[in-house]
Amino acid sequence: MDCVILYLYLPALLFIFAALYLFSEKSKNLPPAPFPALPFIGHLYLLKKPLHKTLSSLSKNYGSVFYFLYGSRRVLVVSSSAAAEECLTKNDIVFANRPNLIFGKYIGNNFTSIVWVGYGEYWRNLRKLCAQEILSTHRLQKMSLIRVEEVKAMVKNVFRLSGGGLNAVEMRPVFFELLFNVLTRMIAGKRYYGEESGKPEEAKQFQEIMKETARLASVVDMGSFSSVLNWFWFRDWENQFVQLSKRRDEFMQNLIDEVRGSGNEGEAKTLIQVLLDLNEAKPDYYKDDVIMSLMQTLLQAGVSTSVDSLEWAMSLLLNNPEVLRKAQNEIDNVVGKDGIITELHLLELPYLRYIINETLRMYPVARFLIPHESAEECTIGGFRVPRGTMLLVDVKAIQNDPKIWGDPENFRPERFQEGGNAGLGFMPFGSGRRKCPGEGLATRVVVLALGALIQCFNWDRISEEMVDMTEGHGLFAPKVVTLKAKCAARPSMVSLLSEI
Ligand code: HEM
Ligand SMILES: *[C@@H]1O[C@H](CO)[C@@H](O)[C@H](O)[C@H]1NC(C)=O
Ligand SMILES: *[C@@H]1O[C@H](CO)[C@@H](O)[C@H](O)[C@H]1NC(C)=O
Repeated sequence: MDCVILYLYLPALLFIFAALYLFSEKSKNLPPAPFPALPFIGHLYLLKKPLHKTLSSLSKNYGSVFYFLYGSRRVLVVSSSAAAEECLTKNDIVFANRPNLIFGKYIGNNFTSIVWVGYGEYWRNLRKLCAQEILSTHRLQKMSLIRVEEVKAMVKNVFRLSGGGLNAVEMRPVFFELLFNVLTRMIAGKRYYGEESGKPEEAKQFQEIMKETARLASVVDMGSFSSVLNWFWFRDWENQFVQLSKRRDEFMQNLIDEVRGSGNEGEAKTLIQVLLDLNEAKPDYYKDDVIMSLMQTLLQAGVSTSVDSLEWAMSLLLNNPEVLRKAQNEIDNVVGKDGIITELHLLELPYLRYIINETLRMYPVARFLIPHESAEECTIGGFRVPRGTMLLVDVKAIQNDPKIWGDPENFRPERFQEGGNAGLGFMPFGSGRRKCPGEGLATRVVVLALGALIQCFNWDRISEEMVDMTEGHGLFAPKVVTLKAKCAARPSMVSLLSEI
């Protein structure tokens, strides 16, 4: 008898609780959230992989401003350009903070990395250093020779790998070597791949450290947070990471010592030299561990993002041969066939630059930017957002919003000529204080590299089938199937390529 009453009353009780809960949330004027939030785990039960699919279906139900509980952490997800603008323009300072995530501790060197450190004095100093001393337009111009030389080395490498058009070339390692060499030359004046690369074993060792870091990082992606709940598993992961950090720090320290020992300054000062000079003026501030953390961060933030973007761009071109042809014509008209494209040509190659923008629109590598966190309460979309809320901006959804972009699923670089992007409808590098400081470097390298590949070779897919465009899961979305392409040096370019 009692049991029957219980069965009858239980649903009613649950209903009352639900109503009270919804009412209280409403009276607090919080953004909409899925129901129910469970004790301790919040909405983690909803986060089945892949994360971006879960979030996009939630935003269909709850709108372009909603929140969910990631354990006990409140996460705000915005997926409209207006809401993103409210977060990153109007409330730029409020959201300039970063959440205290596991990434920051391990990948961000115990929160010393500029990417993962919170908003404050330390971050501001590093940011100024990056913007003025390392990645400023002036410095980038001084280092332009590095990019030109490395792009030449890349086309030469592709020429060799293609075996006169007989072999399918795996593109990812080609792009990786390019970006890695550019960054290590900027940082330490050393290249690690190809000819004249000091010590090949050392390069290999470092490449392994990078690969392993990326692998360990990808396992603690947000999507697999539940496995972090498994303590035994996590301890093992942590141990591996600590070991890896030791090897990484040793490598960086050696590099600094080498540069410090050599003391000769080339035509363009390397990042380490700049930092060591500043160190003399302010010995307490730029300690070796700060320098090491910065070098490492720039490698981590700069290499794979640019490599992924190049891989997406090339894949899109292979699937859209008419765009490729148009770009090749543009380059032939502007650059001709007597020399390889340089950065001076880029201003006269708008179509090539539209291609990169269109690639970044369709496949923004950091599809949710990097998580931000609010330092105080604010209002977004009319809702109250408490302090300490983590922010995910669904850039991919915004940049593919049919209300802003006509036929967003089509690869149509021309749309940038028509100036079809309004306000924050396009922000592959983020916006506001935390915006990517490497945008100038990234676009210079990526556009130049793509231009040189289009100028020097004829490209084709390895079969009739379209290039597979499946995206990876999680916060960052690399291409799942790495790109292989057929290419043959254009007859008019063969002699030039043989001379490099
Ligand atoms: C195509 C290539 C790249 C893309 C798509 C990209 C995108 C981004 C995005 C979306 C953010 C986060 C913005 C935010 O938090 O709202 C970011 C941050 C950052 N990026 Fe990039 N990036 C690229 C290349 C680079 C390069 C080449 C470097 C430097 C060598 C770099 C250095 C950084 C740093 C240091 C931050 C952290 C900024 C901060 O927290 O203050 N990035 N990037
Ligand atoms: C991380 O930083 C904190 C505070 O700055 C410090 O107490 C701690 O020892 C550091 N941990 C490691 C592993 O360096
Ligand atoms: C590409 O997008 C950027 C915004 O990130 C914009 O400043 C630039 O003008 C665009 N380039 C072209 C060629 O449209």
